[in-house]
Amino acid sequence: GQNANTVGETDPEFLSQYYLNDTGSYMTTDFGTPIQDQSTLKVGARGPTLLEDFMFRQKLQRFDHERVPERVVHARGTGAHGVFTSYGDWSNITAASFLSAEGKQTPVFTRFSTVQGFRGSPDTVRDMHGFATKFYTDEGNFDLVGNTVPVFFITDAIQFPDIIHAVKPEPRNEIPQGGTAHDNAWDFFSQQPSAMHTLLWFMAGHGIPHNFRHVNGYGVHTFRLVTADGASKLVKFHWKSLQGVAAKVWEEAQAAAGKNIDYMRQDLFNNIAAGRYPEWELGVQIMDESQMLAFGFDLLDPTKIVPEEYVPITWLGKMQLNANPMNYFAETEQIAMHPGHIVRGIDFSDDPLLQGRLYSYHDTQINRHGGPNFEQIPINRPRVPIHNNNRDGFSQQYIPLNNAPYTPNTLDNDSPKQANQTVGNGFFTAPGRHASGHLVRQPAFSDFYSQARLFWNSLVPAEKQFVVNAIVFENSKVTNTVVRQNVITAINLVDNNLAVKVAEGLGLPHPKPNPTFYHNNKTCCVGTFGQPVLSV
Ligand code: HEM
Repeated sequence: GQNANTVGETDPEFLSQYYLNDTGSYMTTDFGTPIQDQSTLKVGARGPTLLEDFMFRQKLQRFDHERVPERVVHARGTGAHGVFTSYGDWSNITAASFLSAEGKQTPVFTRFSTVQGFRGSPDTVRDMHGFATKFYTDEGNFDLVGNTVPVFFITDAIQFPDIIHAVKPEPRNEIPQGGTAHDNAWDFFSQQPSAMHTLLWFMAGHGIPHNFRHVNGYGVHTFRLVTADGASKLVKFHWKSLQGVAAKVWEEAQAAAGKNIDYMRQDLFNNIAAGRYPEWELGVQIMDESQMLAFGFDLLDPTKIVPEEYVPITWLGKMQLNANPMNYFAETEQIAMHPGHIVRGIDFSDDPLLQGRLYSYHDTQINRHGGPNFEQIPINRPRVPIHNNNRDGFSQQYIPLNNAPYTPNTLDNDSPKQANQTVGNGFFTAPGRHASGHLVRQPAFSDFYSQARLFWNSLVPAEKQFVVNAIVFENSKVTNTVVRQNVITAINLVDNNLAVKVAEGLGLPHPKPNPTFYHNNKTCCVGTFGQPVLSV
């Protein structure tokens, strides 16, 4: 094995083999020769400087190339190492090895992020927030790349560039908070009905969390868990903060942004440095394959939660974050989270948003890391040996010994053998999955108001006021009066009272209840399993 390590090592211990320790050293070039690097090589004391000065050129060249592309989204983030401990042997629902025994420990790295801001943007702006965890399991890396809100704005990956272009700073001047940037965002939100449910979560406290220790996390999509026998269940992943969940009020967020734009990362760093290790429980809502359409909505639709009254959460284990990175760039910046990083026992669903993500992350990481070998960077390396016939590429870190890197192969007995479910004793892909149908290019889902209304109605009066204040504040920055009116029309489809309050705040006429959509959130139907289902 090229990279054999003891299973169960904590991540910082694994990474310590890559530490560059300068203690008691002399300055050297990158190729190891001792140097004095404070004066260039010149002809006489006053120059000119010689082209021959390779030490000077290397120092400046390395500096010139220090920056790499930031993430196209979620550029602003902060991370920490930790450990995940399984509460039990969950082999009845999944073959995933990190869930195979009570007390089993797996090193993890979690990165929290905002979405739209640049790498140097303030932590405290109203935004969606990422909650991405890499589990370095003893059967390869599993990344749970989620957000702190359980639903998403769009349902089809082909729309992702549109929503991001709508919320990023205004193209002509790159000002996020001025000009017509708010017009773009709210124009999009008012015209894209699928955004409504997520928009309300994000206008509530979830858009301005108090800090990263006080957020929950969600896998958003429906995934599958698969047992060693090939039996599968549908699941929604949840992280529950054991610190509790807390938000700032807007004035507090603004004051924090004014005083310290690094508020959130500082909070996480300081608490871990002081030994106050934050913890989260990992849970799943478990559903039968037959329940895909049983709750009155499609489990493939990422704009929907599964109410816990229908399916309670089973808590599988606990994560503790207990070590800060030694170097921000090498670890937090270079980590490559990817929803396609799964281990056996975990499988995808046909959610069209998830399917698109499976393409996008690897593609963007090749761009961000300048080539395909980024999985070899220390923070991304699996903590188990890798064996395959992938070769070469920019900055190859391994020295492969197999001289016949192809399959089938009779020349090299050391060639890696094909694993299968018998050897691996389990499945990546649930054997029951199948697909057939006509090719269509059309939306998959249609009801985007019932759960937006469910969310609104679940809020206590102070929380409702928080949402109204947020929508009014954000729309007071919208310069186009048609866009403001369209926002009122769109939220009126969720709830007339909400729309009236926002209209009042913006000095616009009160909208009338919409007869087509406004059902005052009465339940109308009974689902397949007899539970009440919200009306559209
Ligand atoms: C990061 C694309 C939806 C959570 C990223 C990145 C891309 C991307 C390109 C940058 C990755 C990198 O440079 O390493 C997409 C696309 C989506 C989508 C195309 C929809 C089609 C989502 C959803 C979630 C999510 C639904 C949450 C469930 C995240 C997180 C990160 C991220 C947490 C940051 C990971 C980190 O900390 O390194 N996304 N995304 N994304 N995305 Fe998405």
